[in-house]
Amino acid sequence: MEDKTPLKHQALKHLKTIDNHLEIDGNIVKNLAIQAGSVPFYAYDRSAIERRLVDMRARLPEQLFIHYAIKANPMPALVQFLSDKVDGFDVASVKEMEIALDSGMSSDFISFAGPGKTQHEIEAGVAAGITFHVESETELKRIIAAGKEQEEKPKVAIRVNPEFELKSSGMQMGGGPKQFGIDAEKVPALLRMLDPEDAEFIGFHIFSGSQNLKEEAIIESQQKAVDLAIDLARHAKQSVVAVNIGGGFGIPYFPGEKSLDLDPIAKNLENLLEQMDECLPGAQLIIELGRYIVGEAGYYVCEVIDKKVSRGEIFLITNGGLHHHLAASGNFGQVIRKNYPLVVGNRVYSEITDVVNVVGPLCTPLDILATKMELPYCEPGDYIVVLQSGAYGYSASPHGFLSHPAPAELLV
Ligand SMILES: Cc1ncc(COP(=O)(O)O)c(C=O)c1O
Repeated sequence: MEDKTPLKHQALKHLKTIDNHLEIDGNIVKNLAIQAGSVPFYAYDRSAIERRLVDMRARLPEQLFIHYAIKANPMPALVQFLSDKVDGFDVASVKEMEIALDSGMSSDFISFAGPGKTQHEIEAGVAAGITFHVESETELKRIIAAGKEQEEKPKVAIRVNPEFELKSSGMQMGGGPKQFGIDAEKVPALLRMLDPEDAEFIGFHIFSGSQNLKEEAIIESQQKAVDLAIDLARHAKQSVVAVNIGGGFGIPYFPGEKSLDLDPIAKNLENLLEQMDECLPGAQLIIELGRYIVGEAGYYVCEVIDKKVSRGEIFLITNGGLHHHLAASGNFGQVIRKNYPLVVGNRVYSEITDVVNVVGPLCTPLDILATKMELPYCEPGDYIVVLQSGAYGYSASPHGFLSHPAPAELLV
């Protein structure tokens, strides 16, 4: 008899607080595997992405601009799907810029961040008319030179490396010495030198961190970012069009982690919008998010190939692992490895459970998907589904390692 227990219930055994939306039964995993044509594969649930954005729009201030950072998941069909649901895209390479432009998003709402932009990236960005998030004084000169060459006025926003950090963040990207942005104390002089004939000044980009689940830390860094932008704006010869205060909204991955409460953040954003209205009239306030929009909507599915017992421990050896999903293996920024939430896709309910290690086929002990996790009884041919896999999965993994085939991707 087909088991209709939602996967979600299994996930909850491992991650009690997870707010996962997809209600699928075991049969759907098999069906997706047939659609994908091969296992392993990633599946992204468009209705979950849509629900997330509808919820954000309902709770965050209407005047707030929400941008999607394509690096979280650059699948072209997914970016296309998002193009009429977000207000802009942030890209970090020419390829991402092409994906953003192909989706139909206007270049007016595409920004290009990242240190070390190549000459080709700069020229292509000027030609396309996107906004550069300028990461150094040298880069600014190159952008201006490319603009003169093309007889186009480039659009520039200064990415500021603030003095403050986003506290309790999975990844710090501002504060102290950093390769990102221009140190805040150097920005006034740069702004005084920026000739309106050379470039159209858009404003500031202040991105200080990622994967944060503490509302108060996000609120504090957003407040400081707006204060800093208002202060720096005094030195510019052109008025500010937009202030991008980054994002950093995290999602729960591990037991004990709770979903972010948007309400206090929304309240603070209301105040910031009022402050902006007063001090930078007409300027947009932008937040830029990746994983919060797509992370919980993605699933990575692989198959158990072998099962063996080594000195009393059960090992489920799958055809998926670190090469497809580096983050789930714990090698993408985790200091102490923790298990991503994981379920057995085709045995969503079972009386018998085992404590198992789920590993991949690679020749490294780092190739782990779960350590000592209680799962329904499993055997070769069963599907392992890793939840919370919609961001920094496929595109942030070393597919070339050991030359196994890359996983398929489905937007369903
Ligand atoms: C400039 C910039 N914007 C946006 C993001 C997206 O962060 P997240 O996916 O955590 O929202 C990052 C992540 O590193 C980033 O560097």
